[in-house]
Amino acid sequence: MKRLARKSILEIKTYKPGKPIEEVKRELGLRKIIKLASNENTLGPSPRTIKALRDYLPKIYLYPEDSCFYLKGELAKRLKVRMENLIMGNGSDEIMELIPKTFLNPGEEVIYGHPSFLIYEIVVRIMGGRPVPIPLKDYTYDLKGMLKAITRKTKIIFICNPNNPTGTMVSEEEIRAFLKRVPGRIIVILDEAYKDYVERKDFPDSIRLLKKNKNIIILRTFAKIYGLAGLRIGYGIARTEVINLLSKVRLPFNVNSLAQAAALASLKDKEQVKRTRRMNALGKRFLYEAIRGLGLEYIPTQTNFILINLKRGSRRICQALLKEGIIVREMSAWGLNNYMRVTIGREEENRRFIQTLKKILRDF
Ligand SMILES: Cc1ncc(COP(=O)(O)O)c(C=O)c1O
Repeated sequence: MKRLARKSILEIKTYKPGKPIEEVKRELGLRKIIKLASNENTLGPSPRTIKALRDYLPKIYLYPEDSCFYLKGELAKRLKVRMENLIMGNGSDEIMELIPKTFLNPGEEVIYGHPSFLIYEIVVRIMGGRPVPIPLKDYTYDLKGMLKAITRKTKIIFICNPNNPTGTMVSEEEIRAFLKRVPGRIIVILDEAYKDYVERKDFPDSIRLLKKNKNIIILRTFAKIYGLAGLRIGYGIARTEVINLLSKVRLPFNVNSLAQAAALASLKDKEQVKRTRRMNALGKRFLYEAIRGLGLEYIPTQTNFILINLKRGSRRICQALLKEGIIVREMSAWGLNNYMRVTIGREEENRRFIQTLKKILRDF
């Protein structure tokens, strides 16, 4: 059957997400499981959001509102853009796929950092594009290296800011200098899935950059700080002409009605966002100290996850954690065999993770 498939998809390595809690329950017969593998907000959605979902339930026999009118209206107001500058997706992943579908011809090149979000390579290959991964420098996107990699065939550049899986970011000044040198015929995607966790003050104001640079697409999501990963909803912000092109390849009803209702309610619950940021900042400090205490190293993060250098193969350690009911991310798919990525969770989750890791490390 392989001969029947499009050549460009054969090289795709099927994406393996973090293991779901229910799967670990089934496979290992464990009951008390915590998942710190996919950078979800373990505080969950706010009570206000859950009420909005309940209230909406009787109406799910209807197709969703294709235009996402109310949600876009609220977002536009908050972001100080027009509704015509927004496109909603079934997760920001969907928009990541819409962009190459809209702009990438077979054989054209797409530059992104490595290690970074694995989906970039997949969406490029789906469209028969050529992935051009540029190694990170000091665990951070090497924008100068990326500029050097631009050729006549370059069509898209992905910048994951802050970067998954390293948690590092590039600053407003760095992005500005970069954009000045990128030809306008290249689409620059700023993937800001973890923006709401950033503590540094020099994070780029990408919406302001959009006013000067017509070739930017900003991606954001409700999956992280808003705690709605299971509903799949994210969005893109771009110039109207870019949104109009993307909308041609978007299928109708791509964002379900419950996701729209929940996202709208979660935007209005500022307290939950504040609570999450506070929890994350405290959890980060706790984990930093505990990781150092175990004689390990970490990459300082601007996100809700930490990349930990275990200084030895991580696969068996991650498996041992799994047997104890703790799901974290083993990093061999990124070529980081000595590392694990752990989501910063609630206080009790962070403590249990550290205590268990400490116990396990005695045997490794
Ligand atoms: C960098 C980055 N971008 C985008 C996403 C996907 O977000 P969504 O759930 O909105 O598809 C993730 C999810 O882990 C991510 O890490």
